[in-house]
Amino acid sequence: MANKSRYEELKENIHFHNHRYHVMDSPVISDAEFDQLLNELKRIEAEHPDWITADSPTRRAGAKPADRFDKVRHPAPILSLANAFGADDARAWLERVKRIDDRVEKAKFVVEPKIDGLSVVLHYRDGVFVQGATRGDGEVGEDITQNLRTIRSIPLKIPVRESKVESRKSATFDLRLPTYLVIRGEAFMPVKEFEALNRKLEEAGEKTYQNPRNTAAGSLRQLDPELTASRPLTILVYQIVHAEGGKVPTSQWEILEYLKALGFPVTDIARRFDDFEKAIAYTESWEKKRDDLSYETDGMVIKIDDLTLAAELGFVGKDPRGAIAFKFPAREVTTTLKDIGVAVGRTGVLTPYAILEPVEIGGVIVERATLHNFDYIAEKDIRVGDRVLVKRAGEVIPYVIGPVVDVRKGKEKKYKPPTKCPACGQDVEHFEGEVAWYCVNAACPAQLVRNIEHFVSRGAMDIEGLGIKIVEQLIESGLVKDVADLYSLKRDQLLALEGFKDKKTDNLLTAIENSKGQSLARLIAALGIHGVGEVMAGDLAGTFPELEALSKSSAEELQQIEGLGPNIAESIVDWFARSSNQKLLKKLKAVGMWPRGGKLKVESRKSNVFDGLTFVVTGTLPTFSRDDAKAFIESHGGKVTDSVSKKTSYLVLGENPGSKFDKAKSLGVKIVGEAELKKLAG
Ligand code: IVH
Repeated sequence: MANKSRYEELKENIHFHNHRYHVMDSPVISDAEFDQLLNELKRIEAEHPDWITADSPTRRAGAKPADRFDKVRHPAPILSLANAFGADDARAWLERVKRIDDRVEKAKFVVEPKIDGLSVVLHYRDGVFVQGATRGDGEVGEDITQNLRTIRSIPLKIPVRESKVESRKSATFDLRLPTYLVIRGEAFMPVKEFEALNRKLEEAGEKTYQNPRNTAAGSLRQLDPELTASRPLTILVYQIVHAEGGKVPTSQWEILEYLKALGFPVTDIARRFDDFEKAIAYTESWEKKRDDLSYETDGMVIKIDDLTLAAELGFVGKDPRGAIAFKFPAREVTTTLKDIGVAVGRTGVLTPYAILEPVEIGGVIVERATLHNFDYIAEKDIRVGDRVLVKRAGEVIPYVIGPVVDVRKGKEKKYKPPTKCPACGQDVEHFEGEVAWYCVNAACPAQLVRNIEHFVSRGAMDIEGLGIKIVEQLIESGLVKDVADLYSLKRDQLLALEGFKDKKTDNLLTAIENSKGQSLARLIAALGIHGVGEVMAGDLAGTFPELEALSKSSAEELQQIEGLGPNIAESIVDWFARSSNQKLLKKLKAVGMWPRGGKLKVESRKSNVFDGLTFVVTGTLPTFSRDDAKAFIESHGGKVTDSVSKKTSYLVLGENPGSKFDKAKSLGVKIVGEAELKKLAG
């Protein structure tokens, strides 16, 4: 029979470990050990249902769905913030408040992230979480207690163990808790979790969410707490709204310290400044780094540290004068979808893009945004004429998130994907198992531009000075109909083109001529065969003595190469089977672009130390190119393959590795750098 003190001890322990895991991110026991504690607690509660209290860790989930949310009156107004758009706006705010109270002259400022989530209010009586509410209109919110209970970083019981606790910065707080404490924070869904959730919903064929904020809000306003529990929400707190029966700090900086000491999750990027200009510089530094944060932020909040002074400054409407939201440029904007265009890529894939009413997003005018593929347009029911939400974040190409259905006027038009290639007018094709539609006409002019662009690119023939504008010029003038034509260009032909002077012409001709010295591996990569990247091209060049031999190989022969599966084999065979490509090979040979490949000769072998070993190379190595690394490994008897498997002996790791690194780690493959590789070879 369990005893009550064991029950109390278990609850304490579980709260402690919950806090270590969900707030501090540093658990001290394993998940299995945690589950054991929780199971023991559940067993006791099954025997003694009368012992169960509201703060029991088992009370996070299992509450019954509600038919509506009750209203909750906040103990003090839940205020909003005035915005500043840029440093000058923020300085103007400071000048205004200085004129109201000259103590601001000597004020300190706390800078915090402005988390783009949902403002929530948490009530604690004698340290126990008893109620939670949305902001509502600032006076009255909705009772979402059961939903908030499911957020594991919200303590159900404030885990205070001593009466005084040293904070990070030496202040000692009186932790004899106010008997009634109401705090405010921002509940949100981390960006990574949001993306994972959307992927899951997409795979299940369900509707995806537009952004982390809406998802968090939607998840918290579910009537069924079980649904909220399944959503990876978390919280950061930043304000004490109300306290009774105890003392709390009176500066914002100390409030953050205090809340942290009480066991609440608090941002770790808040800073305090004596100098307002430094506060601005810190704020602006986060504008560039905003993608480093795990949550979305639409700015930083600059707060006067002295909360007594801040309160005395009063309000303008619902905005306290003592703080300002320094907004970063918006990344999601609505605009009108004027039309849908279709681009033809190098491999012939058709990609739809949005033609938008120009709109500024994050300081850049956006007129085009990707629509990913035709399935995406259908799934999101994006119609021409719709108001659409467009996002541009970090390095990502602007994309259409979806239509704003509520403002439809009825004149928007459903979109039908093209059945003919918009560039050459030939029928488009769809391959089994792929979402993309393709133009398979090798002579399609749109493909030709992309083809040549790829052929001359760094990882391929590396012809400097041949940008897209010149490529288009060469095609339009009729001088170039395929990549081989580049090698027949004459000086006077180029000089006749607009913008070509002596120097530019000579440089280009030299760069083209020099590219004839590139390896067979690069030439194969340059051909742009579907599925054949740099590494695979290297494998092919290592197997075949020249292009003609490769062009005659069968799918079966090709599959002898490790890591080369049936799809790529078929794609290679298909490519060489096309008469236009056969013609191209002949032309390349005729102009002298015909490098040799094949197995390294035995005499170039330096040792056999790598005999029987298989290597995979990923990322950029300090001195070796991919070709160099491969040649080096092969010259010591090793084999280089494209993909990591259980059979891989070593992963050679460079900077910015791809997914091969993760795979190697998960399979326990040995990982070495370039230096170690050389050492291994002796
Ligand atoms: S302070 C008097 N601090 O931004 C206190 N708000 O645009 C006023 N928000 O409604 C709020 N992070 O939901 C404050 N570190 C932060 C915040 C923050 C996000 C939200 C909050 C508020 C909105 C104002």
